[in-house]
Amino acid sequence: MGNSGEIKIFDTKTEVFKAIAEGVLSLTQISTQAVFNIALSGGNSPKGLFEKISKEYASRIPWGRIHLWWGDERCVPPDNKESNYKMTVDYLLANIDIPDENIHRIYGEDNPEGEAERYSQELEGALILRNGIPVFDIIILGLGDDGHTASIFPDQIGLFEYDRNCAVAMHPVTEQKRITLAGKVLNNASQIYFLVTGKNKSERVEEIINDHDVAKLLPAYYISPRNGKFTWFLDKEAASLIS
Ligand code: 6PG
Repeated sequence: MGNSGEIKIFDTKTEVFKAIAEGVLSLTQISTQAVFNIALSGGNSPKGLFEKISKEYASRIPWGRIHLWWGDERCVPPDNKESNYKMTVDYLLANIDIPDENIHRIYGEDNPEGEAERYSQELEGALILRNGIPVFDIIILGLGDDGHTASIFPDQIGLFEYDRNCAVAMHPVTEQKRITLAGKVLNNASQIYFLVTGKNKSERVEEIINDHDVAKLLPAYYISPRNGKFTWFLDKEAASLIS
């Protein structure tokens, strides 16, 4: 479970972003695969990471071999300020030289149920399958201060066991529909990088890593790649409650 990951703690967010960028660079460099598939998280945390990559790694990471996907997307058009794709264009894609065909956005503007099915099938057609489930080389995940990850929220924790690759979820407060990777795809990854910064995440981090009973109600607790490596990338604020 989530408490089984390797824990890396850094003094500043910038050092967290650098460590993740270095990890992506080294994994892509040592990989002998023709294609390297990375699923990105949305929200705010990745903005600093994408800025760091844009500034210092744009010419070093082999983008021609890297295909970018998303762990989740809001059901909004791609030019909407809520769109994870739009955020990624603004903070990363506009600054790197990556072929258009390497970008696999979730069509947030389309019918959610239909798009969840379409994305599930696109994943199955493009990624290596392990136990019949698509394998990402790296999935970058964020942690909500309510313990959600991707768009699997505590009140829909059953989506972690959903039988398809992607599901339609709903934000518990805004009721905004989301498309999310289901738990079986998340836990099928070769590497999971948990990018968690800020004081407002410290309680969830402590509950999950110290395996509290209350953590068992949190989707992020169930992140535990079966055949992969799992690393928490924390700044000292998010790690402030763990010894
Ligand atoms: C999303 C994200 C979501 C995010 C967490 C943390 O679509 O919002 O994928 O899972 O990672 O909510 O969000 P912050 O990085 O903004 O704290």
